[in-house]
Amino acid sequence: MKKNCKTDKIETLCVQAGYTPKVGEPRVAPIVQSTTFYYEEAEQLANLFDLKDNGYFYSRLGNPTCGVLEDKVCALEGGVGALCTSSGQSANMTAILNVCSSGDHIVCSRTIYGGTSNLFSVTLKRMGVDITFVKPDATIEELESAIQDNTKVIFGETIANPAITVLNFEEYAFVAKKYGILFVVDNTLATPIHARPLELGANIVTHSTTKYMDGHATSVGGIIVEGKFNFKNNPRYKTFNEPDDSYHGLVYADIETAPFTVKARVQLIRDTGMMMSPMNAFLTNLGTETLHLRMERTSSNALKVAEFLKSSDKIEFVKYPYLVGDKEYNTAVKYLKGGAGGMISFGLKGGRDACEKFISNLQLLALVTHVADLRSSVIHPASTTHRQLSSEGLIEAGVPENLIRLSIGIEHIDDILQDIKQAIEKI
Ligand SMILES: Cc1ncc(COP(=O)(O)O)c(C=O)c1O
Repeated sequence: MKKNCKTDKIETLCVQAGYTPKVGEPRVAPIVQSTTFYYEEAEQLANLFDLKDNGYFYSRLGNPTCGVLEDKVCALEGGVGALCTSSGQSANMTAILNVCSSGDHIVCSRTIYGGTSNLFSVTLKRMGVDITFVKPDATIEELESAIQDNTKVIFGETIANPAITVLNFEEYAFVAKKYGILFVVDNTLATPIHARPLELGANIVTHSTTKYMDGHATSVGGIIVEGKFNFKNNPRYKTFNEPDDSYHGLVYADIETAPFTVKARVQLIRDTGMMMSPMNAFLTNLGTETLHLRMERTSSNALKVAEFLKSSDKIEFVKYPYLVGDKEYNTAVKYLKGGAGGMISFGLKGGRDACEKFISNLQLLALVTHVADLRSSVIHPASTTHRQLSSEGLIEAGVPENLIRLSIGIEHIDDILQDIKQAIEKI
């Protein structure tokens, strides 16, 4: 975007934010496939290490192509700083470890993505970080009763994968603010097109950019975006208020702009190496250029599919938050602007057999272990992602045997509907 162009229109930001070419430079943000950067004086590099100057010196800590994506997604989410990571998992892991050490605790919405749930309740637990799960529609009282003196993060997903619940932002944000606790929201499935969590009380937003941001299923990646939060003298965040011996005594809370992002970059990503590659940043940035158009079509297609499923006598239940009558409809309309993305789940009459036949009958929708790209897809969790669970276990996990999950893309709605209709009729 040209230097003097100021806009807050999300469509324009999708297309142009993050990259300002100089005269004669490439119009498209290029791939800077270089690990290192050239300097002449020792002092120039020293100033970068001391964070006195902005610039790149080693691609584990920052890279110009990743920088373009960071600046764009930061603008899309209305943040003050952003950091690309190697995956959505590493974005959430970095967001938590940036404030939590062994002996700390997080409060987390129960319906989050299974991979994140495992990360928190198995891997982080093994590292000494404890977790209390609460409902995505938890009341203030329920949230307050989960808070402990050592609670460092309250975590949820705007639209949860695969439960498709919508987070009670108001209650979560109220409790986080009251107790001075960082409120972290994974906005992967809503994207900034449908929700901007930082405007709904969140302090940090994370994404698996692998999903709608890339949108073409080419690149695994993640990003963390920082909003406002006062770490200074907050007794919960000692590591922000004490000098970091591993970074020549830097006190992160003293950094005026984006202290969370600086700490995550120069301390955690420096040590763990969970950065995004320039190639993936390039491809993901291309994806974001059409994010607004894709989300509009994905969401309108998904609503039509959900309406059709609701009207079919072969269907036991349908879950889509923007469907009138859905349990989450009021919450969805309150927090999601213009749509609820492409994920739908529904229950087929006839159990597991009917589900397997339905999937084999499909001619357009493909069976894949992925959601949220521009191609419509389907999965039957009971025979794939959750196949190790017993019938009782499936019910406990909220994934009954007859549940089918759809990720609706941007093909013509007539073709999508026709495929689903014929696949149901042929069972
Ligand atoms: C909401 C959400 N967060 C995080 C992740 C993890 O992302 P990745 O697969 O990029 O590591 C996923 C993956 O499906 C997800 O759906």
